[in-house]
Amino acid sequence: MKWSAPKVASHKVRDGNKPLVMLTAYDAPGAKMVMEAGADVILVGDSLGMVVLGYEDTLQVTVGDMVHHTAAVARAAPDAFIVADLPWLSYHISPEETVKNAAQLIRAGAQAVKLEGGYDRIPMIEAISKAEIPVMGHLGLTPQSILSLGGYKIQGKTTNAALTISNEAKALAHAGCFSVVLECVPSLVGKLITESLDIPTIGIGAGPDCDGQVLVFHDLLGINHDLQPKFVRTYANLKETSIEALTQYANDVRNGTFPTQEESYQLSDDEVETLGLYGRPDSLKDDPLGSW
Ligand code: KIV
Repeated sequence: MKWSAPKVASHKVRDGNKPLVMLTAYDAPGAKMVMEAGADVILVGDSLGMVVLGYEDTLQVTVGDMVHHTAAVARAAPDAFIVADLPWLSYHISPEETVKNAAQLIRAGAQAVKLEGGYDRIPMIEAISKAEIPVMGHLGLTPQSILSLGGYKIQGKTTNAALTISNEAKALAHAGCFSVVLECVPSLVGKLITESLDIPTIGIGAGPDCDGQVLVFHDLLGINHDLQPKFVRTYANLKETSIEALTQYANDVRNGTFPTQEESYQLSDDEVETLGLYGRPDSLKDDPLGSW
């Protein structure tokens, strides 16, 4: 059965369920691969800005970017449960604007949206939920707060900080979130928050006790080596493999071994004969077909 927000919302590992598998995707081939690999949820993350669009952080990503990429993912994976990130400043100004931006992502093909932050976001979460749009929360290291946090740092390292995140997680659940991403918090904090919530937690650098895990497509496949946090397990080295393949192609073109006749289209024998007899310039009439 296809995943839905209510189905995700009741998916707790403590009830005997397997952890949820969420993966990011940003385009059609990526979405197809992620679905064929058996992911439960596709996240069109605003990590898009860093791993695909070449920005230094996620702050440059616009609603237009998210709509464009969400639509590509939705076209390629019509049966997927797709969550799309609300980018920075698309949910900070007013609940009305937030709902309109969230609706654009839904119309692009997402079934839910994700936003970052704690207490400050409650009015936005309530407004989106009232518009019947499922919302996923995101706490701990929230990359859209990079400027105010002063860098990509582990969060919740003190008792006070951990309790704040835990209380915010409860507030998010109460406001209507159907699940919450926990990013870069100590394992024990991930575990305690997971135990304290009835909605699932999805961890990224939040230890093994969350109700699900998420990784960024390009990190997992070794396409992106720019930032390598400890929590990334690299399952392939596609950057190196791709560069090797691309270099071989360049060499083959330059040394004349690509393409071969087998990799080229051929005329029928009749057409070859016609061309040979009538099509060649007079000066080549006595030349075998090779020079034409
Ligand atoms: O944008 C993203 O890919 C994310 C994940 C890291 C959770 O928010």
